[in-house]
Amino acid sequence: MSSSAVVGLQWGDEGKGKVIDSLASEADFVVRYAGGNNAGHTVIVGDEKYVLHLIPGGILHAGTINLIGRGLVVDLAALLEEMDGLIARGVPVDERLRIDGRAHVIFPYHRQLDGMAEAKLGEGKIGTTGRGIGPAYADKVARNGIRVADLLQPEYFATRLKAVLAEKSALAEKVYGQSLRDCDDLVERALEMAKRLFPLIVDGGAMIRAGYRDGKRVLFEGAQGTMLDLDSGTFPFVTSSWTGVAGIAGGTGVSPRSLDRALAVTKAYTTRVGEGPFPSELHGEVGERLRAAGNEYGATTGRPRRCGWFDVVLGRYSCEVNGLDGIFLTNLDVLSGFGDLQVVTGYRHAGHVLTDFPGENSVLEELEVVTEILPGWDEDITAVRSFEDLPPNCQNYVDFLEQQMGVPFERISVGPGRDQIFVGKNGSESLWQ
Ligand code: GDP
Ligand code: IMO
Ligand code: MG
Repeated sequence: MSSSAVVGLQWGDEGKGKVIDSLASEADFVVRYAGGNNAGHTVIVGDEKYVLHLIPGGILHAGTINLIGRGLVVDLAALLEEMDGLIARGVPVDERLRIDGRAHVIFPYHRQLDGMAEAKLGEGKIGTTGRGIGPAYADKVARNGIRVADLLQPEYFATRLKAVLAEKSALAEKVYGQSLRDCDDLVERALEMAKRLFPLIVDGGAMIRAGYRDGKRVLFEGAQGTMLDLDSGTFPFVTSSWTGVAGIAGGTGVSPRSLDRALAVTKAYTTRVGEGPFPSELHGEVGERLRAAGNEYGATTGRPRRCGWFDVVLGRYSCEVNGLDGIFLTNLDVLSGFGDLQVVTGYRHAGHVLTDFPGENSVLEELEVVTEILPGWDEDITAVRSFEDLPPNCQNYVDFLEQQMGVPFERISVGPGRDQIFVGKNGSESLWQ
């Protein structure tokens, strides 16, 4: 038995899709444990581009079982659309996909309430993906949620859904002054959609625990990023789940002690979509250039991503919170031709230099960043496949980040393609124990 986790180190979109795909050929199970279709994980294979939202990133590999773990919130219509899209491209989804019956369901009212809450917040909005994630998790915590397996018992499901609908309609009308749409026939429509999913519903925790006993390899796939974690992130500008390594046990049904290796993905700079503090953010021309060079537009919503320098304070915090063994550094190629590069190494606030990531947004908004300037490089590095072949200034940049983070850079990615990745200077050949 061997298990590894790959989580996002920053605010999401670090390149987890690419990294998971690169490890999945060696895994028996690829398991998502948190989030929903707010995620957008890009996998590029030759000329083909796949953007996965709910389906784990091992789906393109024969012999890999992909589990939507119990910690997810599942929009049935979105899942079926994603499945059909892959099937149309020749991927045998039904063979490779399983759904934990304990996962919760996102209904149309969750999406609508997400939009209403954001509209009500106005300027103070979170900038959610509008997928109903927060309202669905809120229902789970309030014990008002409906689980995938509930759809296997139509009468029980109908009774519960009707009761919840009455409450949600009142909420929409009384708090937001609006009526819910798409409520008619919701029971029937959900049951119809669920029919297609029945053969795929399993007890996911039991499946993975049995896999452990049989010596299988399990890869846990994080969604979002540690800084969007409900507790570790920049609350309230976070998502509603536990996105880091700590979310794995609860979100799957395995022991927290059964994880062998914790890995994270980070860009060689920083991006964020949606609102909230972002100390190393670049406003103006340099930020625009980063966005253009990295094609930094959300894989789920298409929104422009905010861009900034690499932030060591944030990075170290994320390493510690997750207990990381290794890091995947992505998008290094994007920095070619930027001239001098800056790295944030400290935060200055109220006369002190902070080296721990602060929990108060007021501090994060007020602080000044302390930066180190490193010389850039002009060479195109997208065809480089070994650390030694990187330009000297680029090697120096990677060395600096690695030393500052104190965790080995296992792999370095220099382009979106499957083959544009190589072992870091201090990386190990195999990422399995
Ligand atoms: P995820 O949410 O962490 O899976 O990341 P996304 O798929 O949302 O965004 C990452 C984007 O960067 C995608 O468009 C990837 O194809 C792309 N990408 C991944 N690794 C690299 C890399 O090393 N260089 C470049 N230029 N793009 C990359
Ligand atoms: P992947 O897995 C980047 C952000 C949203 C918003 C906040 C809350 O592709 O890295 P939500 O809809 O979850 O309630 O929105 O979280 N967010 C992401 N940002 N990548 C993601 O996923 C994200 N999932 C949610 O932009 O700021
Ligand atoms: Mg993404």
